[in-house]
Amino acid sequence: MLKGFWYIAGESTAIRAGRPFAAMLCNQPLVLFRDGQGRVHALDNRCPHKGVPLSSAWQEGDSLRCPFHGWRFVASGECVEVPAIGKVAHPSPASACVKTFPAEERDGWVWVYMGNDRCPKPSVPPPSLPVLADGSPMVSVRRSAEAKVRWDFAVDSLIDPAHVPFVHHNYFRRREAARKKGKVFTRLPLGFRTISQNVLLPDTFIFRALSLRLGSATTTVDFVLPGIHSERWEIGARFASVMLVATPLTDERSRFDICVGWNFLRGIPVGGLVRRTLKTILGQDRDVLELQEQGFGRQGSMLLNLESDTLAVWYRQLKKYYSDTLAGVHDPQHPVPEKVTLSWTT
Ligand code: FES
Ligand SMILES: [Fe+2]
Repeated sequence: MLKGFWYIAGESTAIRAGRPFAAMLCNQPLVLFRDGQGRVHALDNRCPHKGVPLSSAWQEGDSLRCPFHGWRFVASGECVEVPAIGKVAHPSPASACVKTFPAEERDGWVWVYMGNDRCPKPSVPPPSLPVLADGSPMVSVRRSAEAKVRWDFAVDSLIDPAHVPFVHHNYFRRREAARKKGKVFTRLPLGFRTISQNVLLPDTFIFRALSLRLGSATTTVDFVLPGIHSERWEIGARFASVMLVATPLTDERSRFDICVGWNFLRGIPVGGLVRRTLKTILGQDRDVLELQEQGFGRQGSMLLNLESDTLAVWYRQLKKYYSDTLAGVHDPQHPVPEKVTLSWTT
């Protein structure tokens, strides 16, 4: 798992006032809660006294009271009350404090920063859904799905072009419409980008329903560590964007979160259709990845030697590049060429 990045801990709507919420990121149990100003805070989900999860705490104003012996913690993690001794010294001893994590809301998600020794605090805000340069408003919907699959496999699925006509047949591609394409990739600081012009939008029901087939599109698709795939679609004055994020929950479980935004079809209620479609698509990925996890355990190796597997190889090398950079290795090698064309049939 990669530390030093923002991860999605949950949808904003799941964190309700007065209701502490249990989350898990990178094997770290978290409790999220919303204070009186509506700000979300993230703390270690463990009372330092005897270990009760603070997601079971009672929220009192802007603090959490552990239900076992009533210790009370504020958003900074400090213990401000121990009923058995009446009051506690201020500042309270470090052993009685709960570790806290930076938390921010963006695009309808709560992002929590998981730091490492070199970058304990975030230096950049959380990633965000691509928007129009003029900031004009978009409608957006989101959906998520958990899967019993290791995070590497979840990330692979974001950058695996060859699975699309099979796993998502009839959604983005019809298998019989697959054709060979060349794509030009360029390097991003911790990822890669491909821009395609004159893209004919797929002749599938979802694109027809959204009446996007009115011409060709310019698409920009980015992948960046830790596991963030984002797309911009420009079709004349129409604009749509997607952010698909794979998050490590534990060594064995991952979650996908997807957000789609668009600036057209105002007043036409297509949100329900898009949400249902996103649910189906995430379910298709979850089902096939859980199968992969079952089968992979027996042999534990894979073949990544096709051109369409290049992105999966880059992803693994990008992780090494990042850790080499953090470790201060001399001249770490970014795996993505400045510019390269890759071809495959999808
Ligand atoms: S376990 Fe939380 S107060 Fe004792
Ligand atoms: Fe997929």
